[in-house]
Amino acid sequence: MKRNAYCGCINENDINKKHVTVCGWVHSHRDHGGIIFIDLRDKSGLLQIVFRLNNKNLKLFKMAKDLKDEYVICVKGLVQKRSEDTINLNMFTGKVELIAEDLKIFNKCAKLPFEISIQSEISEELRLKYRYLDLRRPSFQKNFIIRHKIANEVRNFLNEEGFLDIDTPLLTKSTPEGARDFLVPSRLHHGSFFALPQSPQLFKQILMISGFDKYYQFAKCFRDEDLRTDRQLEFTQIDIEMSFVEEDEIMNITERMLSRIFKVILNLDIIIPFKRISYDDAILLYGSDKPDTRFGMEIKDFSQEFKNSNFRIFSSVISNGGIVRGLCVPEENNYFSRSKIEDLTKFVCSCGAKGLLHMRISNFGIESNVIKKYLKKEELNIIKSKFNAKPGDLIIFIMDKDKEIVIEVLAKLRLRIGKELKFIDKNKYSFLWVVDSPLVKWDTGEQKWKALHHPFTSPKNDNIFNNANISTMKSRAYDIILNGIELGGGSIRIHETDIQKKIFEILNISDKIVKEKFGFLLDALNYGAPPHGGIALGFDRICSLIVGERSIREVIAFPKTQKTLDLLSGAPSIIEDEQLKDLGLHVAKK
Ligand code: AMO
Repeated sequence: MKRNAYCGCINENDINKKHVTVCGWVHSHRDHGGIIFIDLRDKSGLLQIVFRLNNKNLKLFKMAKDLKDEYVICVKGLVQKRSEDTINLNMFTGKVELIAEDLKIFNKCAKLPFEISIQSEISEELRLKYRYLDLRRPSFQKNFIIRHKIANEVRNFLNEEGFLDIDTPLLTKSTPEGARDFLVPSRLHHGSFFALPQSPQLFKQILMISGFDKYYQFAKCFRDEDLRTDRQLEFTQIDIEMSFVEEDEIMNITERMLSRIFKVILNLDIIIPFKRISYDDAILLYGSDKPDTRFGMEIKDFSQEFKNSNFRIFSSVISNGGIVRGLCVPEENNYFSRSKIEDLTKFVCSCGAKGLLHMRISNFGIESNVIKKYLKKEELNIIKSKFNAKPGDLIIFIMDKDKEIVIEVLAKLRLRIGKELKFIDKNKYSFLWVVDSPLVKWDTGEQKWKALHHPFTSPKNDNIFNNANISTMKSRAYDIILNGIELGGGSIRIHETDIQKKIFEILNISDKIVKEKFGFLLDALNYGAPPHGGIALGFDRICSLIVGERSIREVIAFPKTQKTLDLLSGAPSIIEDEQLKDLGLHVAKK
């Protein structure tokens, strides 16, 4: 018996076809005495198979009776129209069935740890341990079919645009993307290690210096960082680099690529160009450099207006270097009751604030227990007009002498209220570019400047040789955000050695380390490096957003758990002493 058809493809055109032979897994099994129904599943879908008892097929019927879920079988038979009362319009094959004439059992299946045919809540640990079973679910297979289609579309698009797909090494030197490296010990050079790439950043720049002009790669990247729903230890980037370009060209290629993916996969027309917002505005209006712009409720700053206010809670925070910012919530029917406001207060305190102040605009004026008493009428009017507030609106203020706390807490509060009041349209795709980000940020722990993106990002306009304005220097970087998730980031790179050296100096990276870690890049820049720039998009994140899953684990075939374990293979695992010896390694006891 040899397969000549796929289960999910058989339809009314095949009625009366003989010797149709399908292979797959027993998805479900119903025994009605003299008749047995089986839903057989392969990658294309389900097909109903019917075994009818008669004098000539006793052996076949007995075999069918013994079938269990997930047995792997091959069935040959005749395609027939289903009787009217058994037609299932929810299935592509729902109008037909295969009358079995022959059956072969390839393999049995052990007792299942969870049902495959029934969608039920299963712990993620179990799902990841038996990933091969989890992946068999038709709804899950769909994610990987879409992932494949997206990859195909990306390749088609970039190939048509004249990009070359070039591999870069996995055993390489550390690249500074901000996470810890995964290290691979060298057997021939004891004490020396390769690092798995956090991204192909330096290699793609070198490919530009080599004259390839337009490069792309589906690059595997490795970062030893704490996992979240949108982070894995190893993930895939759509990595792009171009020569002789400016920001607009890279942003335009990215926009056209994304709009094509959304059209082909979801049949959605995404309007390009995407909105651009400066980093400073993103922080001011949303408290975040990756704002969810599917809804408004923008944050407003009142630090200027209230610095001389008689209301000491505001003015003293401001005179101590802090800020006062607020949100205006267009709620209906006083949704935020006293107890709900207490919940919000607990929430902001758990995020680091000392509390919140609120007031409500009503048809009769302003209702509040504190603010109204102490603020002057003009000050209350400023608040109303800055928010363009209308009756029913709830205004919430957070203030602190630590500016970062106010920014962070309001960002979280905005998202929480947005979700609670269902302001977020789940079917909306809100793309945004965040541009003009600072070149460096001050790391209070290490007491030094750190690159906000990476050290190869070109500064914007500023004269970087003037040390006085380091903190205000902007970069030529751009991040692309979708619905509050960072899809990708890139920049125009430094292509001149003296500027690159100056950046290393600002970042307080010693000449020795520069030579050791990035000497090869500095050397290459000396040999005629073209102006160049690029971007990398998180491929797993794009896929999860398109298939509508919260976690990228749902679009990665074999992901790690939150605790960075591979439950299927049992990695990471203890290494034999012999192997360690070969590598010149000794494992210290904890
Ligand atoms: P960046 O570090 O911003 O830039 O990474 C680009 C994109 O990769 C995705 N990403 C991740 N996805 C899953 N798990 C992770 N741990 C993870 N980390 C990052 C995100 C992110 O936006 N070399 C630069 C790009 C460039 O400048 O061209 C870089 O890697 O979607």
